[in-house]
Amino acid sequence: MTPSASQEPPGAGLGDRFGRVATDLRVSLTDRCNLRCTYCMPAEGLDWLPNPSLLTDAEIVRLIDVAVHRLGVTEVRFTGGEPLLRRGLVEIVRAVAALTRRPRMMLTTNGIGLARLAEPLAAAGLDRVNVSLDTTDPAQFKALTRRDRHADVVAGLAASAAAGLLPVKMNAVLLRGVNDDEAVGLLAFALERGYELRFIEQMPLDAGHTWRREEMVTGAEILAALRSAYTLRPDPDARGGSPAETWIVDGHAAVGGGPARVGVIASVSSPFCGACDRTRLTADGAIRSCLFSQEETDLRGALRGGAGDEELADLWRKAMWAKPAGHGIDDPKFLQPARPMSAIGG
Ligand code: 5AD
Ligand code: SF4
Repeated sequence: MTPSASQEPPGAGLGDRFGRVATDLRVSLTDRCNLRCTYCMPAEGLDWLPNPSLLTDAEIVRLIDVAVHRLGVTEVRFTGGEPLLRRGLVEIVRAVAALTRRPRMMLTTNGIGLARLAEPLAAAGLDRVNVSLDTTDPAQFKALTRRDRHADVVAGLAASAAAGLLPVKMNAVLLRGVNDDEAVGLLAFALERGYELRFIEQMPLDAGHTWRREEMVTGAEILAALRSAYTLRPDPDARGGSPAETWIVDGHAAVGGGPARVGVIASVSSPFCGACDRTRLTADGAIRSCLFSQEETDLRGALRGGAGDEELADLWRKAMWAKPAGHGIDDPKFLQPARPMSAIGG
């Protein structure tokens, strides 16, 4: 992509130099987590953000209001760390649901605590959930996440379906030599229960900086494995800005009718940066234009310094205008961002 000549962000929305417009806002509500997935965090956890630096519930709602009413955001996804650990979550969802131009609201969670919270979240106005589950085996789950909580996640998924947070989506990351033999088993688990499964290629975002391209289980490998047991047909529905390439699973139905689907998010081997429509807000109030940005724009300082809505919107527009063309993972000069995934939000 070639950047446009103009140096200034045009228009009212979150456009960038490459003609993309961000309408999908990801809000990280905390950098903490109650799991310790080996591909994400060390066993002892990380140096968590200190409380005073975290946005308050009211500050989060204010910034979402600005994004929705001044910047054209139509979709808000709450992430973490683990967003269910945020005490005010249900109230934040309720407040966002009350905005005049109510955005669609999703939650990306590890599912622990969802058995209790799915119903109140749905009642507050949450539309959907993505629950991360990388294995169908409780012992493997314990090894992978360093916590014995497989049953809680399974219960959280079921509660989400019962609460009508449909379609319930499941995210899985496969790691070579660990759970790379589970592609078919995970899909069987999801199909049996009517969940829509998405495999995500592992990205260089781990706190330990141990990611190796050669070690990554690729989307192509995952598809080949799935095809050993299932017939997959290309999904006729347009992909749009969605990062997942989806397939119809022949002979299976989704809950609520229609064909069953499975998706692969090949962020590394088949980047979709050219169609990216995302903007990110960290738990401590910084805008990131990309998961892999080396730069952030602090909004918290302006917010606490008394900035008005239009001033905040302007800072946000400027931050997004500078969005890089792509993640550049294949560039020899690629640098992993300073913040790990758990502090950015997935
Ligand atoms: N690469 C890809 N996905 C990751 N996740 C966490 N770390 C990585 C990574 N390095 C996934 C989690 C969860 C979602 C929030 O992101 O498994 O499904
Ligand atoms: Fe927690 Fe998600 Fe990281 Fe696992 S991948 S430790 S669930 S933030």
